[in-house]
Amino acid sequence: MYKKIVKLAEPFYKKGRSGDLVHIGWISKKLFDLKPTIEKKGHDFDITYALAILHDVGYSKMPKGYNPYDLKIRKAHSKESSKIAKVILEKVNFPKSKRKKTLWLIEHHDDWAFGKSLEDPEWRIFTDFDFSWEASRKGFDVVRKFLNQNRREFLKTVQADYKIKQKRTPFFLTKSKKLFLEDLRYWKERLIK
Ligand SMILES: [Fe+2]
Ligand SMILES: [Fe+2]
Repeated sequence: MYKKIVKLAEPFYKKGRSGDLVHIGWISKKLFDLKPTIEKKGHDFDITYALAILHDVGYSKMPKGYNPYDLKIRKAHSKESSKIAKVILEKVNFPKSKRKKTLWLIEHHDDWAFGKSLEDPEWRIFTDFDFSWEASRKGFDVVRKFLNQNRREFLKTVQADYKIKQKRTPFFLTKSKKLFLEDLRYWKERLIK
């Protein structure tokens, strides 16, 4: 089922933002690494996984040249993602009892940008990884180029983002925080002499 979700999401990410396909592949791997931890703590892996893989498929439906930081786009892409996800969840025979919550979380995954952070553990776990992407080996350059910053400038951006995150929605899992800090250290060792 998990592989099928990724397969069905891929065409949408190909049409969406550049870098999103690699981003999703990375999140998928990280989530599987933590699957035992997530389940041991009693959180739902299926919902977390579907949310992580499908949250941004709706960018494929946004008008050309949009600004992803525009609040209207934030709302619109989440709504579209939820619509597309509904079809995909049906196709993969996703557990019926978990569909409603998954779709709701997808539709509201960007509510934090409107000052309404969600408390659901599935969203918190997904958000940890969505955030950590920018410090990862692969994601660092992808996000940095998107923002037009050099590596040193971007390292400062990541450090500033981390401070903001810890104030607003601190890392939920100790393990994901540890992974993020390891990646951050990797870049610091290379860029600060
Ligand atoms: Fe999004
Ligand atoms: Fe994302």
